[in-house]
Amino acid sequence: MGGNPRKMLSAGSLRASIRGDGLIMENEITFKDELAPGVKLIKVRAPLIAKKARSGQFVILRASEDGERIPLTLIDWDPKEGTITLVFREVGASTKELGRLEVGDAIHDLVGPLGRPGEVAFYGRACVIGGGVAIAAAYERAKSLKEAGNSLTAIIGARTAGQLIFKDQLRKVVDRLYTTTDDGSEGVKGSPSDLLRSLLESGERFDLVFAVGPEALMKSVSEATRPYNIKTIVSLNSLMVDGTGMCGCCRVTVGGRTMFTCVDGPEFDAHLVDFDELMARLRMYEEEERLALKVVGRRCRG
Ligand SMILES: Cc1cc2nc3c(=O)[nH]c(=O)nc-3n(C[C@H](O)[C@H](O)[C@H](O)COP(=O)(O)OP(=O)(O)OC[C@H]3O[C@@H](n4cnc5c(N)ncnc54)[C@H](O)[C@@H]3O)c2cc1C
Ligand code: FES
Repeated sequence: MGGNPRKMLSAGSLRASIRGDGLIMENEITFKDELAPGVKLIKVRAPLIAKKARSGQFVILRASEDGERIPLTLIDWDPKEGTITLVFREVGASTKELGRLEVGDAIHDLVGPLGRPGEVAFYGRACVIGGGVAIAAAYERAKSLKEAGNSLTAIIGARTAGQLIFKDQLRKVVDRLYTTTDDGSEGVKGSPSDLLRSLLESGERFDLVFAVGPEALMKSVSEATRPYNIKTIVSLNSLMVDGTGMCGCCRVTVGGRTMFTCVDGPEFDAHLVDFDELMARLRMYEEEERLALKVVGRRCRG
């Protein structure tokens, strides 16, 4: 769209209003940065969401009118400025389409804040774990837990050093920061759950562990803390459509009961989550996702 306000208004479905100093566009991207290859941060004008957002909640957006609805976690929000911050990895058709929008462009539609706010309280010694792009969400929770007075350890992990985002910001918030990489290019070689396991084996104890990232990581964090009976919360990435508890797409089994991630979560007691079922459901549309990515690739070239 190229950031031309007139062009955007002519699309018909975008909302804008005239204020003293000019045209104010809802859902407008006001800032954009590439944090790592394929990982983007955008600030979006969304004053109503910014006013109500709480830690752990998310939005659902469509980059364009014929786009797919995708959920993204609220990483930051500024009620004064009326903006929210999102961080996403371009993994498929919709996130790539979103990644192509520039400052001045508007996201077609955006709803939120969705989901139940996370439990932010004083626990004592808390450990926050983030893997890949979800390090951004771990950073957000670290800030909230610090404000609640907890002593904080963070363990963040990624495939390689260049993908370890939010390191400097985390250092300012936590008492101890550990990094891991799959290829050993920075920190400990391995995954954050390996590091957590060795901390626990060496006698370290936490009153809360919060983990967010790939399902395999959250599952192994859950297995690491179970023998020690440590309260462990995970933020699930179930497939979602409406985000309001109507379609059933995001269902997950927690403690033997069916729950909807969008309205009952996204955060749950890790020791009760059926991760194997969750991982199988996430692979349900692999073929369709591959096809969609091909179509988007063709659109970009043509
Ligand atoms: C509550 C919640 C918060 C999330 N927060 C973030 C975030 O802050 N940053 C971020 O980069 N990603 C986040 N995700 C995942 C993000 O929604 C997906 O990466 C995105 O929908 C993929 O769409 P796509 O078309 O680009 O890729 P696709 O080709 O559709 O899928 C690529 C991969 O993403 C998974 N996926 C596809 N659709 C969804 C969906 N609707 N929900 C979850 N996973 C999906 C697929 O299993 C597949 O492995 C979140 C998911 C949930 C449920
Ligand atoms: S996304 Fe439809 S019920 Fe949760």
